[in-house]
Amino acid sequence: MTQPSVPTPPSGERPICVRCRLAVIGAAVLALAGGFAYTAGWLTPARLSAPRIIDTFEANAGPHPGYRRNHAKGLCVEGYFDSNGNGAALSHAAVFAPGRTPVSGRFAVPGGNPSAPDTSSPVRSLALQFRLQNGEQWRTGMNSTPLFVVHTPAQFYQQLLAAKPDPATGKPDPAKLQAFYAANPETQPFLRWVKAHAPSSSLANAAYYGINAFLYTDAHGTTRAVRWSVVPDTPYAPLSAAQQAAKNFLAADLDERLQQGPLRWHLILTVAQAGDPTDDATLQWPDDRQRIDAGTLVLERTTSQEDGTCRDINFDPTILPAGIAPSDDPLLAARSAAYALSFKRRTREEALHPEVHQTPVAGAHNGEHS
Ligand code: HEM
Repeated sequence: MTQPSVPTPPSGERPICVRCRLAVIGAAVLALAGGFAYTAGWLTPARLSAPRIIDTFEANAGPHPGYRRNHAKGLCVEGYFDSNGNGAALSHAAVFAPGRTPVSGRFAVPGGNPSAPDTSSPVRSLALQFRLQNGEQWRTGMNSTPLFVVHTPAQFYQQLLAAKPDPATGKPDPAKLQAFYAANPETQPFLRWVKAHAPSSSLANAAYYGINAFLYTDAHGTTRAVRWSVVPDTPYAPLSAAQQAAKNFLAADLDERLQQGPLRWHLILTVAQAGDPTDDATLQWPDDRQRIDAGTLVLERTTSQEDGTCRDINFDPTILPAGIAPSDDPLLAARSAAYALSFKRRTREEALHPEVHQTPVAGAHNGEHS
């Protein structure tokens, strides 16, 4: 019997055995699978990850397929930003050159339940997507408080656990929340601010704050830390007793005001001085910091979040044009990861079950005005 012929390697090279080749391929496949498993959090169940945060939102609020896992109740808005050119002193981002940039946005109230009453939280939010002429985007999610309740993503997660509804009442156990706040003194400035500032009577007369610090680089290459806010032209008025009793009034109030004409806010850029914290959203900067009015945000019309433009926008605060960059605030990366997963789950639900978004939920906005 003749032996099967084995190809002769070129002189100097040693043949690689078949088992060795299989072992190398097997190791590569295992490493790849391990990488996926690690990223998905299967190997490190104690590690804080976006899935753990989003699962906890879902556990607290119950399933609401197709809706955002936080700030679930909201409505879409459309308008534009008129830059006056003053922001160019801080950032070379094209959005700060004089001129108009179209904007899509979303007003919302925090929480994972899209039919929660407007009064369920003292906080309202405004998220914006600026579509720059050069194709870049600036996305931001702002709250109606100038500071945030927690410093780190781990504290955010612990707060979610503490806010888990008590099966007996369907509401968070106040004792558990108090214990969380007591154990995390960084929460005190936020709690004091909320106590001292009654929620606004309207989405139109609230200021909204980006809260996290960002890095602005000007045309000369100088970088400064900046926080931004939008400050309404509409005078502030506190929530009335009648609104408190009515529970749902924000969407109808906004539509009524928009029927009279567009609503305006000034985009204010606040510049840090050396030593101001850029990595801690629980700390405000002193009041005397330089403030630049960069132009006017004009909102003209609303659409429902079930089929408006904002439905398919992930307001990830790390999507930024050249000239603006994230700071060292640890909340930013956690927000980016959590918003992406929330977006992935809700858009998947919508694709699999298009009917989830055909009927606006009770108490949610369903009007359309231009
Ligand atoms: C670790 C900290 C945070 C986590 C894990 C978190 C989580 C989330 C999630 C999962 C969503 C839903 C996103 C979507 O599906 O589009 C959301 C929405 C939102 N969050 Fe946060 N958040 C955090 C901190 C903040 C901070 C500091 C602010 C304020 C500056 C903020 C403002 C908003 C706003 C405005 C929305 C609504 C966006 C929209 O209307 O689509 N969040 N958040």
